[in-house]
Amino acid sequence: MNKLFSLCLIITFLCTSCDRDEDPVAIRGCMDEIAINYDPDITVPCNHCCKYSCDTEVTPINLIYPSNFPTPDIPIWNLLTEEGVNLGRHLFYDPILSSDNTVSCASCHKQEYAFGDNTQYSFGVNQAVGERNTPILVNSAFQSYFDWDGKTSSLEDQAVRPLFNEIEMHNNNWSEILNRIQSSELYPDLFCAAFGTSNIDSSHVLMAIAQFERTLISSNSRFDKWLNGEVQFTNEEIDGFDIYNTERGDCFHCHPIGLFTNNIFHNNGLDPSPFLDLGRYNVTQNPLDEGAFKSPSLRNIEFSAPYMHDGRFATLEEVIDHYDFGGHDSPTVDPLMKYIGVGLLLSPEEKENLKAFLLTLSDQSFMNNPNFSNPF
Ligand code: HEC
Ligand code: HEC
Repeated sequence: MNKLFSLCLIITFLCTSCDRDEDPVAIRGCMDEIAINYDPDITVPCNHCCKYSCDTEVTPINLIYPSNFPTPDIPIWNLLTEEGVNLGRHLFYDPILSSDNTVSCASCHKQEYAFGDNTQYSFGVNQAVGERNTPILVNSAFQSYFDWDGKTSSLEDQAVRPLFNEIEMHNNNWSEILNRIQSSELYPDLFCAAFGTSNIDSSHVLMAIAQFERTLISSNSRFDKWLNGEVQFTNEEIDGFDIYNTERGDCFHCHPIGLFTNNIFHNNGLDPSPFLDLGRYNVTQNPLDEGAFKSPSLRNIEFSAPYMHDGRFATLEEVIDHYDFGGHDSPTVDPLMKYIGVGLLLSPEEKENLKAFLLTLSDQSFMNNPNFSNPF
């Protein structure tokens, strides 16, 4: 209920177009069945639902994903359509969304790096750099928290942050962004096709971007093919899998098979306290969350170096060495880091094999999917 209520507030805050609509009938509540952001579960009227204002016929998309994935977290008011995804893909790749027309979402989330980046900190507007490594966008539809500290809990909600973040896209207000999009050659038609409205508003911008992000599904790696009996693993890969998926290496509790993330927050012993970045604590203010970060998915991990929230490790060897050492002790280190002070004591060969297994999570059909690439 809390989540729904905050959603309602977010929409109230963002859905400015309905206020601009000349037709007063367009201003209804989210309880309105013909509104584009209709949600039958909403019991608090928002008075800011967006109604169709031009004719369109949309083509629904059903996401295809394996049975070891959970059900995707898609709001009923933002079901995927081909037109919505196409619009979102254009917005994702378009620097028009940044204050000086130089930076797009894809400037930092690059397909060739599994929609992450190959630098420790990515460059935003005016070459500004932040303090966190760009996370990959892989199977985001199946996750419920976003950003390293989980400060956002839907993709629609998340997309606002980079737009107004000083070191990312550096906008000051929605009206500047919306004016730029509204007066472009391209977008009024794309919005009309996707949402039946040519009055471009903030909520539809966010909805389209989220739709595109939800299509970024990776489930066709060598590991998946092995699981389906389509390919054989080498002896090294089998040994690596055993290390990964048993108490020997103990990776599977936090990065379980399927998504390869449990989508919750842990302190995996990167530092002793006090922590430079308090991570999840910044969101919850709970002292037990100091130094905890979201377990990232390890799918396509081959392509997204450097690693960790601050990009401190340049290679997978360095990551494996960290876990082999056992991690630093601290008051909040996760109980699942069971080898603190002892270490895993993997042999050089076992480390190689663990790496060989991690490389089976690479999915070339995802990395090269033409539907995900720059449409311009
Ligand atoms: C300047 C680089 C940069 C730009 C531009 C950028 N991002 Fe990000 N993105 C990041 C960083 C860094 C984080 C992690 C932030 C944090 O943890 O506080 C992030 C986090 C995310 C996440 C959370 C992923 C996860 O699994 O937790 C999503 C989704 C995302 N960005 C989408 C977008 C979208 C959509 C845009 C464009 C509207 C965008 N980003 C623009 C750097 C960037
Ligand atoms: C206690 C939970 C936990 C365990 C056990 C664990 N991890 Fe992690 N892993 C995390 C968290 C949390 C992060 C992100 C930490 C950060 O950036 O501060 C992470 C990050 C990573 C990364 C970097 C991903 C990226 O995108 O930057 C890799 C690779 C990784 N882990 C592999 C492993 C392997 C291999 C094992 C077993 C040897 C393992 N993990 C065991 C929780 C865990």
